Amino acid sequence: DTSLRALGAQQGLRIGTAVDAAQLGSNKAYTGIVADQFSAVTAENAMKWDAVEPSQGVHNWKAADDLVKFAQQNGQAVRGHTLMWHNQTPGWLTTGVANGSITDAQLRDILHQHVTDEVTHFKGKVWQWDVVNEVFANSWETPQADGLNRDDFWVKHLGSGVIADVFRWAHQADPKALLMYNDYNITGEDGTNVKFQAVYDFVKNLRKQGVPIDGIGEQGHLDTQYGFDAQRYQADLQAYGDLGLKVAITEADVRTFVGNSTDQVPTDALAQFAQPYEFSELLKGCQLVSQCISFTAWGVYDGDSWIPGTFSGEGYGLLYDVNLQPKVAYSTLQQDL
Ligand code: XIL
Repeated sequence: DTSLRALGAQQGLRIGTAVDAAQLGSNKAYTGIVADQFSAVTAENAMKWDAVEPSQGVHNWKAADDLVKFAQQNGQAVRGHTLMWHNQTPGWLTTGVANGSITDAQLRDILHQHVTDEVTHFKGKVWQWDVVNEVFANSWETPQADGLNRDDFWVKHLGSGVIADVFRWAHQADPKALLMYNDYNITGEDGTNVKFQAVYDFVKNLRKQGVPIDGIGEQGHLDTQYGFDAQRYQADLQAYGDLGLKVAITEADVRTFVGNSTDQVPTDALAQFAQPYEFSELLKGCQLVSQCISFTAWGVYDGDSWIPGTFSGEGYGLLYDVNLQPKVAYSTLQQDL
């Protein structure tokens, strides 16, 4: 068995993918690849707040429940994604905050309720939760003294202390789930270590205070046009590990410019080498750091990736091409494993 999941299992590493609820079950080839190749799954969108609570107090767990059931049937672990994030919050919530019908004190209670509801709903079924997503400032944002993004929706309304509280609330609802902080540019991908240092100092402090945080999720969204410092990435991952935290690569993809989004052929001929190389380095860092427990790609194939819709002119980011055929990046990971 040379599937990614079988090769990963031999070294105690789960190989995961983000799953699009709309394709699971209905797209046969897609569903087969998810089952055969991966030992962990993340809902690409189905567990986000806007998906699970479309109107206040009314929950829709259907798509997420289907994924959890699929995972159980296929011996896969589930990564829960995500409880507190500034994006994909329900419209009723953002509208209510904007028009003042939801005060900050009420917002805090609503968040607490949401975390409790969702973690309780999936209690015992989720291996790792991305409890908090993307609250630290990037180089183009304004950091507070503690490194959090001053303009983040949650930080702005509830203050830095809410981070620790969300971890505590999640832990109360499912004491056995691994609780992660998830973000990008936190292992020097943007060419500086500023954000890494901020996250490192912050989580070190959380641990010191006894806040139940178990690990760091490094998203791993790379772009061949920026290059990638694999040594710094490894050193930063190891530094998190040395704090006694687990680490996981949670959303790996390596995008590049493409001629058009239908066939996603790279415009730069060298990108077909750079792309698998950067995937390989992402995986290697995880293999070299003993605290690394999973390596997840953000989607199965180029035809179903968030990249063309988010980064104009880019694509080619995943392990399978637009026709669901394995790419060089796939065979490279297979060899690395
Ligand atoms: C993306 C999904 O892939 C898209 O389908 C959706 O429209 C927007 O969100 N960081 C994260 C993920 O933590 O949740 C994001 O997923 C990609 C960036």
